[in-house]
Amino acid sequence: MAGNTHGTLFKLTTFGESHGKAIGGVIDGCPAGLTLDITAIQNDLDRRKPGQSAIVTQRKEPDEVEFFSGIFEGQTTGTPIGFAIHNTNQKSKDYSHIKDSYRPSHADYVYDEKYGLRDYRGGGRSSARETASRVVAGAIAKQFLAPVTINAYVSAVGTIQLDHDPSKVDLSQIENNPVRCPDAAVATEMENYIKAIRKEGDTVGGIVTCVIKDLPVGLGEPVFDKLHAELGKAMLSINAVKGFEYGSGFAGTQMKGSQHNDLFNTDASTKTNRSGGVQGGISNGMDIYFNVAFKPVATIMQNQETINSKGESVAMQGKGRHDPCVVPRAVPIVEAMAALVLADFKLLKRTNKI
Ligand SMILES: Cc1cc2nc3c(=O)[nH]c(=O)nc-3n(C[C@H](O)[C@H](O)[C@H](O)COP(=O)(O)O)c2cc1C
Repeated sequence: MAGNTHGTLFKLTTFGESHGKAIGGVIDGCPAGLTLDITAIQNDLDRRKPGQSAIVTQRKEPDEVEFFSGIFEGQTTGTPIGFAIHNTNQKSKDYSHIKDSYRPSHADYVYDEKYGLRDYRGGGRSSARETASRVVAGAIAKQFLAPVTINAYVSAVGTIQLDHDPSKVDLSQIENNPVRCPDAAVATEMENYIKAIRKEGDTVGGIVTCVIKDLPVGLGEPVFDKLHAELGKAMLSINAVKGFEYGSGFAGTQMKGSQHNDLFNTDASTKTNRSGGVQGGISNGMDIYFNVAFKPVATIMQNQETINSKGESVAMQGKGRHDPCVVPRAVPIVEAMAALVLADFKLLKRTNKI
């Protein structure tokens, strides 16, 4: 059973591989009459694209989206929105070393075992290049959700952590540095660390925090499709994600109920927000905030021992153009997946009561 479609009513199906002709998708279920800001869509793609700064992969791709259907005179028509992004800067020979060998902690072995063959060029379908299609659909979902705002930022790179309260972060500062950390001094520290890690031929992980504001009460479908459960699934579907926590998360386990409860104001807002804007799987009108943990990605420019498809031990040296740390580019991907989840719940909410 394939798993290339997200959503129940607001649906995205993606296609394509890293070194194929193009990647793209079909968005089905976006209501008619939405006036689209194409520049805003391209802007989100530019925030994800490779080669955007010295601390990301140097693959140079313009990542320009081309729409084929579902939009007429600037508005959605309610019919499937088909789109593609052409792959223009593949260097497939950089990947000949993984044709018959498996990068440790990448998806090479499991794809081979599961499907019996594999487009190894650039990692094929397992490459995070696929997430550009999610960013296109997410940017449309964001426009459907307005005035709800979704902003993500980098809150940790390795052991360098931003001391932050998501409700107080100055979100206008996020795009002012290549790391996408809203504190300039911490961002510089993170940037220098990523550069040093790249020089070592190594990689480092990090955390992306996301804040959603002005979401009405009532989004989320208990009991299996709770809002936080769907957000968690969406985030965990992003390449290299190892963890998800919302609200007080794991730190909440160290508190007592008397410390942890969010007491009500008379307008039903809460004095604190340890619930992270979700109670019983339903949005409660407070800000939603969550953290997404990304691992240090697998491809390192160092010698490593691995195995080939015959099960023999072989030495492997990473090649090609790779990200030393993916969190700066993951920021718009996290926002996009959050937008897709919320757009779907916005439509589903219309079925809740007479
Ligand atoms: C924006 C982004 C860029 C990535 N770039 C790389 C990369 O350059 N090299 C690499 O080995 N993995 C990279 N990854 C991660 C791999 O796609 C991912 O680790 C791989 O598909 C295996 O999946 P898993 O880590 O989720 O198990 C990137 C992930 C993201 C989100």
